[in-house]
Amino acid sequence: DSGAPADLSALITSGLRDVPDFPKEGVVFKDITPLLADPASLRAVVEGIAGRYAQDSVDVVLGLEARGFILAAPVALELGAGFVPVRKAGKLPRETHRASYDLEYGSETVEMHADAVSPGSRVLIVDDVLATGGTARAAVELVDKAGGTVVGFSVLVELGFLQGRRKLTDVEPHALAVL
Ligand code: PRP
Ligand code: MG
Repeated sequence: DSGAPADLSALITSGLRDVPDFPKEGVVFKDITPLLADPASLRAVVEGIAGRYAQDSVDVVLGLEARGFILAAPVALELGAGFVPVRKAGKLPRETHRASYDLEYGSETVEMHADAVSPGSRVLIVDDVLATGGTARAAVELVDKAGGTVVGFSVLVELGFLQGRRKLTDVEPHALAVL
């Protein structure tokens, strides 16, 4: 159960475009750009994520480069919280915490400024898609390193068949739609 209203889930499912063999053969890419381009859908997804955490005293919303940025900043505004970027390695100018995760070939490293999340801060992590869970897990690790508390991990779409939520032990992921 995604915990989202059925009509919002349906709106997302119908707004996504499946792109076969992108970025490589055998992968079906979930293109969220039609959803973002539609004003009513954009508002509904931002309010859908923010609404779920309205009572959780969120201090900071973490957005995961790049597609997570698009949703995390408006969600932060909606919650009266700050926005913090988690970036791919080498982009942030000051001292960072780092976390790595495996991809099908090789690995990826992400970073967050070491002083971006204060010890005890309540953090909501936002991204577009939960697939294998590597990105999500790395983000949780960064918050742990900073001494923050993860109050939630929220995405537009969870690809349930990839079982990414198994990688997340300390947080219950929330998805507006599950495929
Ligand atoms: C995609 C997507 C999620 C992540 C999910 O990002 O936006 O962040 O993959 O996959 P996972 O659960 O298997 O880790 P990608 O790294 O392609 O980059 P982008 O957001 O910069 O486009
Ligand atoms: Mg991403």
